[in-house]
Amino acid sequence: MALPEGFLEDLKFRNPIEDVISSYVSLKRAGSNLVGLCPFHNEKSPSFTVFPATRGFYCFGCGAGGDAITFIMKAENLDYIGAVEHLCKRVGMELPEDDYTKKRGDSDVKKARVFAANRDAARFFHDMLSKPEGQAGLVYLRSRGLSDSVIRRFGLGFAPDEFTLRKNLFLDHMLGLGYTEKELLASFLCAKSQKNGRLYPIFRNRVMFPVIDITGEVVAFGGRVMDDSKPKYLNSSDTPGFKKSRTLFAMNYAKNACAERLILCEGYMDVIAVHAAGMANAVATLGTAITAEQARIMARYTKEVVIAYDMDDAGRRAAEKAIHLLDSVGVRTKILKLNGAKDPDEFIRKFGADAFRLRLDDSENQFDYRCSTVIASHDLEDFNDRMACIAELTALLATLHTDVERDVYIGRISEKLGVSRESLKNDVLRSRKRQEKSREKEETRRQIQQSAGYGDRINPERSKYRRAASAEESVLGILLLYPELLQQVIAKDGVALREEEFLTAFNRRVFAFLLQCTEEHGHFDIGYLGEAFTDEEIGRITGMMVARTKLTKNDMSVIRDNAAVLRAEGIREKQHSTEATTEDLQNLINRRRGC
Ligand code: CTP
Ligand code: MN
Repeated sequence: MALPEGFLEDLKFRNPIEDVISSYVSLKRAGSNLVGLCPFHNEKSPSFTVFPATRGFYCFGCGAGGDAITFIMKAENLDYIGAVEHLCKRVGMELPEDDYTKKRGDSDVKKARVFAANRDAARFFHDMLSKPEGQAGLVYLRSRGLSDSVIRRFGLGFAPDEFTLRKNLFLDHMLGLGYTEKELLASFLCAKSQKNGRLYPIFRNRVMFPVIDITGEVVAFGGRVMDDSKPKYLNSSDTPGFKKSRTLFAMNYAKNACAERLILCEGYMDVIAVHAAGMANAVATLGTAITAEQARIMARYTKEVVIAYDMDDAGRRAAEKAIHLLDSVGVRTKILKLNGAKDPDEFIRKFGADAFRLRLDDSENQFDYRCSTVIASHDLEDFNDRMACIAELTALLATLHTDVERDVYIGRISEKLGVSRESLKNDVLRSRKRQEKSREKEETRRQIQQSAGYGDRINPERSKYRRAASAEESVLGILLLYPELLQQVIAKDGVALREEEFLTAFNRRVFAFLLQCTEEHGHFDIGYLGEAFTDEEIGRITGMMVARTKLTKNDMSVIRDNAAVLRAEGIREKQHSTEATTEDLQNLINRRRGC
């Protein structure tokens, strides 16, 4: 994305990072920095630090980090350009018109075109239901008990079986409307044949469920087969206008009806069945497990989520994850128990909408649900089993956060199991202390591991090339602090450091991005990282910079020394990996001498 020269500096100058963040986190001065409780993970002592001088933030606990733009991306759950726009609005700046509709990153297809293409595609699929080629779709949808008005409300449709029909209905239609090949590819509506390079429609012979975002744009589709063939559903991949992890099916309707309660289902058909039964507050994720981003979106609209997942093993696990994520954004959760049916759609068809509504009011909160699962899995008549059950419940009770909650449940459970309230209470307190200790231990272990590079998801090679990685990070950290040194670092008569000399892929990518950014924008700014790196990665990169701010010497000589270490490690690695013979070594030496 090419924002005008100086635009980001201006934006960040007018949005001082400490001001931006202090509307989310209460910050206290600590020397020249500010600290507070990290909004991105749960903590009791502040490790979230804001650095006004470098206009960055970093959490020493969870590794989140970046600048004002990446902070807004995370906190407001926006993409890069959305965050830029948010900060513009905050101070009354204009976002350059041309970039507004453009998506970040590599794609140059405009978001608005992707939306338009999806909307026209949805119309095409829907209109098919009244054409001869689409009758199979209509028959199928009706066989699932959907009325014409529900079909219309959800804009359901049908993608014809073009390969069998030997027709190009969809492509001709879309090209006729003026969409280019590039736009149809970027919208995930068409793909290109490897064999003959021709475009063909991705969705064929499937009933179509359009996904509509909160602003009312058609952003994606789910397409279901009408028999038992696989895959059952085909879903749009992310496009310039769509991020699966930030979208919920039917949220466009549910957002106006869910202030008190939202129903989270597994499938499109469940959501539609619940809506058809007169409750507009149901949503579903898009064929994936719930993400933290989706949990945050729900938290914006509702106080309570009733989880209506299938109650098989997979569903239970998914429910546990949902409870955990929703809990951490402060949303109450309940579990819907549907006896006699596998999912809401089936339940409503079998027992009717009223029965479903009754179940909803009867749904257990997640704690009751967990307790009853524990109790049900033990034989209370058996002494040993009973003791095991009490031990499990004690551990569970210890996870409750407030004294009031703990008191209520200790009362209930002591009654149910016939144990004294006092002894249960003591057990719970002991268990809490133990849990606290092991959490602390776990956290320390995680931090140690992270700094040592074990189990490092962002830069997996870090533990293999420890010395090299640390040299790379010193170079990068200094360059992030003083981007103006980059010219000397790459200059032939300077350090002449090249991208290929980085041993770990992640650090190499960061270096390449510094170069690319400098070339494209004339300078580097952390703000640009959002174009190419994930939040987690930006956190890691910011960490490299923050590590350097703690050291007094950050200049060319340090870069030079570290480049030398990196080069020595590179040679060592080469010798090592080829198990070099003397001959190879000689060749290597010759090559380095330039013969
Ligand atoms: N899903 C998917 N890909 C699959 C199977 C499922 O993306 N191959 C997603 C869909 O979003 C689907 C949800 O997971 O809606 C739940 O799957 P399932 O319960 O199998 O489907 P239902 O929506 O209940 O569909 P149906 O009742 O028509 O079988
Ligand atoms: Mn189903």
